[in-house]
Amino acid sequence: MSSASPKSGLETPEPMQADHINEEFAWEVEAGLTASPKRLSSKYFYDSKGSALFAQIMDLPEYYLTDAELEILKEQSPAIMDRLGIYRETPFELVELGAGDGVKTIELLKHLEAGDYRYRYVPIDISQQALNQLEKNIRAALPNKQIQPKKGDYFKKLGELSDSDTPKVVLFLGSNLGNMKDDRAHGFIKSLADNLAPGDKLLLGTDLMKDASIVLPAYNDSQGVTRDFNLNLLERINRELGADFDLDAFTHAPEYDEKEGITKSYLRSEKDQEVSIRAIGKTIPFQRHEKIHTEISRKYNDAILEDICRGTGMKVIGKFTDHRDYFADYVLEKA
Ligand code: AVI
Repeated sequence: MSSASPKSGLETPEPMQADHINEEFAWEVEAGLTASPKRLSSKYFYDSKGSALFAQIMDLPEYYLTDAELEILKEQSPAIMDRLGIYRETPFELVELGAGDGVKTIELLKHLEAGDYRYRYVPIDISQQALNQLEKNIRAALPNKQIQPKKGDYFKKLGELSDSDTPKVVLFLGSNLGNMKDDRAHGFIKSLADNLAPGDKLLLGTDLMKDASIVLPAYNDSQGVTRDFNLNLLERINRELGADFDLDAFTHAPEYDEKEGITKSYLRSEKDQEVSIRAIGKTIPFQRHEKIHTEISRKYNDAILEDICRGTGMKVIGKFTDHRDYFADYVLEKA
C-alpha cells in the first residue's frame, strides 16, 4: 500500500520493478517535472506511436514545412549540386543525419541517379526501424539504388567515415536543428565540423521566421494530430513509467513569438491535480493552468543562422528557398 510522504503530504506511489524501467527516461522525467517551470524533453516524443503521429503531421495541410522543402529539392536540385561544388565526375559521400521516411531525400537522389553522379548514400539514424522504412521507400522509388545505412550515434558514425579522403555532403533536413536551443545548435554544428574535412559541405533545412498566422496553425492543426503528438508524451510516461496522467485534464497549448521566432509547445493542466509516477516513487502536484514546456521549434533568418555558426568552423555559402519564402535549405562549407 502507498504511504503518505511526510514532507509534501502527497501519496508515495507503489514502486515499479527496476528491470522494467528506462532509467534515463525516468531520470529526465523526474528532473523535468520537479523543476520550476516544469519541462519534458521533446526527444521522448518519438516512440512508435509518436513517430507514426509525426508522419501524419508531415501530411497535414497546415504543416507547410514538408511541402516547402520538398518543392526546393524537386525544383532546385541541379542548382543545389552546383553550389555544393559536386559534378557528375566527382565521387562523393552523401551522408544523411536522421533521414526519417526519406521522401524529400528521394527527390535529390532521383536527380543524382538521372545524372549518373558517382556517390554513396549513407543514411545514419539511431533507430533501426527508421532505417528499415527508409530502405523500403528507396527501394520502391529507385529499385537499382544500393544504400549503406548505419545505425548509431550521428557523430560516432560520421567520425568513422571521416577516414576516407572522399568529399562529403551532409544532409540535415526538415528543420530538425530548430528543436535545439541556439547554444545546443551551435555545439551540434561545431561537432559536425569537427568530423568533416575542409571543403566538405552541409545542406541544412531550416524553417524561416514569418507571421504567427502561418506558423501557429502548423503546431495547432484543426484535426488535433499535433495535440495527440504532444499528449503522447504523457501517455508514454503512463505506459513506461507507471504514471496516472489523466489525458483529458491537460491541453495542448503552443505559442509563437514573432519577434523571437520560436514556437514553444506546452501541455497545460486544466485543474489542480496530482499525478503519481511509480518509476520515480513520486507524486507531482499541478496547479490549474500550470504548464509543462515540451518543445521548441526555432524559425531562422540569415542573421540568426550566421550567429549560431560563428566559431563552429562552418560558413554559410548558399541559400535555396521555396516560392513563398517559408523554408530555406542553406549550404554551409567547412573552412
Ligand atoms: C521534427 N521537428 C522539426 C518538428 C518541428 O516542426 O519542430 C516536430 C514537430 N513538433 C510539432 N509538430 C512537428
